[in-house]
This record gives sequence, structure tokens and C-alpha cells, in this order.
Amino acid sequence: MIPEKIQAAFNEQIREEMESAYIYLSMAAYFESQGLEGMATWMRSQTAEEVAHAMRFFDHISERGGRVSLQGLKQPQAEWNSPLEAFQAAYKHEQYITQKIHELVDLATAERDHPAHAMLQWFVTEQVEEEASTSKIVEQLERIGDSGNGLLMLDRELGRRPIGSGFAPPAPEA
Ligand code: FEO
Repeated sequence: MIPEKIQAAFNEQIREEMESAYIYLSMAAYFESQGLEGMATWMRSQTAEEVAHAMRFFDHISERGGRVSLQGLKQPQAEWNSPLEAFQAAYKHEQYITQKIHELVDLATAERDHPAHAMLQWFVTEQVEEEASTSKIVEQLERIGDSGNGLLMLDRELGRRPIGSGFAPPAPEA
């Protein structure tokens, strides 16, 4: 059986991960409005990843005979002043999520909940990657500055990120 405190904290983390998905989906919409389809694709892929993160917490609670309880999501920001500002916000958000994961590890340790502790190790590693990928794009955008050409090249590069089928844009009609 999952300890009460862990169940409550994991239910809260489902909300954090779904809220992350919502933030990145809002960024996908922003990039699409700017004609930056590659960046939109990258954000669609990130959205799918966040839903998968939420499901890891969902499944962990269920597998241990707990009860998943979904909470409301905040309305995400809809506009950013530039691609750089959007990716800076994404990087900052990932730093925030890392802190949340570390708090969960501390809680699992305090509760001596070894299954939760083991499950959270995947997230500790994942967050290193999440921060690295967003901060790398921030650095690239800073280097690009006002170069329209550089922005289009980066957009093309980011558009190569694969996406799960349910999150991909519809294929053009043949
Ligand atoms: Fe679920 Fe981007 O961390």
C-alpha cells in the first residue's frame, strides 16, 4: 500500500506534469502563430513527454493500490515576446520541476518509502536531461540574436524531434 503522504504528493505531481504539458502546448500554439513550425513541433513533442511523465506517477499510485485524484490546471501563459523568451521560460520551468522532484525524493526518504524512492530515480536523471535540452536551446537563441537566417536554421533543426502520433500535426492531404 502506498503511504498517504506519498499518494498526496504524487497526485500533486501529476498536476505539475500535466500543467507542464499545458504550458508547452501553449508554447506550441505560440510558435505556430509565429510561423516557426519546427519549434512548434519540438513543443508538441515536449507536451507528449510531460503527459507520459504524469502517467508514470498515475501508474505508480494505481499499482500500489492507491487512488489517483486529478486536480485543476492553471490557464497557461499564451504569448511571449520572442522565441528566446519562450525557451527561457521553459528552462526556468524545468528548474522548478527539478526542485519538485528533489522534494519528492526527500519525502520518500523521510517516509522510508523505498518503492517511491526507486521510481523517482528515473525522474532525477530525466530532469538533468530536461534542463540540459532547454538551456542548450536558450544558448543557441542567444547566439543567433537578431539573425533571421539563424532562427530559421534552428527552427528546422528543432523540427526533427520525433513526436508521438497523437501529438503530431495532421499530415497534408495528398
Ligand atoms: Fe516532466 Fe519536463 O519535466
